Amino acid sequence: MSEPRKLYVKSFGCQMNVYDAQRMTDTLAREGYVETNSAEDADLVILNTCHIREKAAEKVYSELGRLRKQQEEQGRKTMVAVAGCVAQAEGAEIVKRARVVDLVVGPQSYHRLPELIASAEQKRGVVETEFPVEDKFDFLAPPTRQAIARRGPTAFVTVQEGCDKFCTFCVVPYTRGAEVSRPIAKIVEEVARLADGGVREVTLIGQNVNAYHGLDERGRPAGLAELVRRIAAIEGIARVRYTTSHPRDMDDELIAAHRDMPALMPYLHLPVQSGSNRLLAAMNRKHDRELYFEIVERVRAVRPDIAFSSDFIVGFPGETDEDFADTMDLVEKVGFAGAFSFKYSPRPGTPAATHADQIPEAVMNERIYALQALLERQKASFDEACRGRRFDILLEKPGRLPGQIIGRSPYLQSVVVLAPREAIGTLARVEIREVSTRSLAGEVLGGEFFAGGAAASAAHVMREEKVEA
Ligand code: SAH
Ligand code: SF4
Ligand code: F3S
Repeated sequence: MSEPRKLYVKSFGCQMNVYDAQRMTDTLAREGYVETNSAEDADLVILNTCHIREKAAEKVYSELGRLRKQQEEQGRKTMVAVAGCVAQAEGAEIVKRARVVDLVVGPQSYHRLPELIASAEQKRGVVETEFPVEDKFDFLAPPTRQAIARRGPTAFVTVQEGCDKFCTFCVVPYTRGAEVSRPIAKIVEEVARLADGGVREVTLIGQNVNAYHGLDERGRPAGLAELVRRIAAIEGIARVRYTTSHPRDMDDELIAAHRDMPALMPYLHLPVQSGSNRLLAAMNRKHDRELYFEIVERVRAVRPDIAFSSDFIVGFPGETDEDFADTMDLVEKVGFAGAFSFKYSPRPGTPAATHADQIPEAVMNERIYALQALLERQKASFDEACRGRRFDILLEKPGRLPGQIIGRSPYLQSVVVLAPREAIGTLARVEIREVSTRSLAGEVLGGEFFAGGAAASAAHVMREEKVEA
């Protein structure tokens, strides 16, 4: 038998790319590829790219430069594929610009990878960026039990892909295509398989995940609230999250789900982009700041312990000091536990890119600095308020020091505890004792692994390790 071929996938961008990377890996595993974590010993390198901002998109070319150099040094040709949103946006341009690339494949054609690789082996420069009629999810391979176990107790699952909203700054509707929701039964089947392999927490992902409207078993469209209910009922699944939501699509059922479903984590990423109504209109966000406040209030009313995070863009064309002040004001009023903020990046083909009133870099820098300082203060005070609180922590992986396990709080904070390795994949009851900028530390009080006999031995292990530390 010949040596198995080695595959290295490097992902940039959002969580959907992380999910896609796994599905490509699973699909190619069926063809005999095994995963490696370095480009040096790979036979096939896939760069899974992101086009959202210029900096993200440029990364692919520096990465390709590195690969070319590596191949020259090794005197060996490795097959190189560019996937993801840059592949979709730039297509054949990439093959022209970078000789090292053998294959370009857009996100809707990953199920065709095996045949595309075979043709690229015959002739360099295969480009596949059509939106096929068939559903790739029907053809992508599921992960094996070993792959599930290797990836740990949390998993992303794409439930909705694409976007019909066309915010004027954004490339996603062009790179991912129109909004498509997967049927409920297929998602349930996928999550049941993950749960069977040890997954305890799933994050349902989509570019507009709360616009989800997949068909149920009787062929009727169901919303995200119904999907969450079905996922939470799967044996083994303890926690459900969803991301990314659009404020316009936070419907009554979904808000009620935050009240009725304990498995739904009390942490909601709800991008707002700007606090200025004038800019929200120019961005084509289809809502104003008042709607945002209203949603935050309604979710807080049914789930008082909920925390919010968001995305912000500063320096959108035409943004005045007043507009920016409105953004700062919105942040002050809502209070966020976390956030991502970006300087506006003009993207080819989007309406805002050709707007005459682009904002100078120096102004953008000033604004992002002020915004991030405020958001960081809010995050720090949220974290600080967790000191002394008790949470269920999902134990995910070994920490840096012996005896340490890293888990996640309901608010996605990293929490370091002392616990035996065997407790990974279980929920531990933890009291938060220390708070630092990057993580929290806590003490295990009990939990799934620590019930009954296991509790005693775990407490013993912890005591011993504490003495050592
Ligand atoms: N679907 C999500 C966001 C997807 S992109 C939503 O509707 O909110 C993730 C984030 O990148 C966006 O929320 C936005 O803050 C940022 N972003 C998108 N396009 C951008 C651009 N041209 N320049 C700077 N930031 C951008
Ligand atoms: Fe982009 Fe707007 Fe769609 Fe989000 S809703 S993916 S920001 S176009
Ligand atoms: Fe980037 Fe595409 Fe995700 S542009 S953010 S990888 S949908």
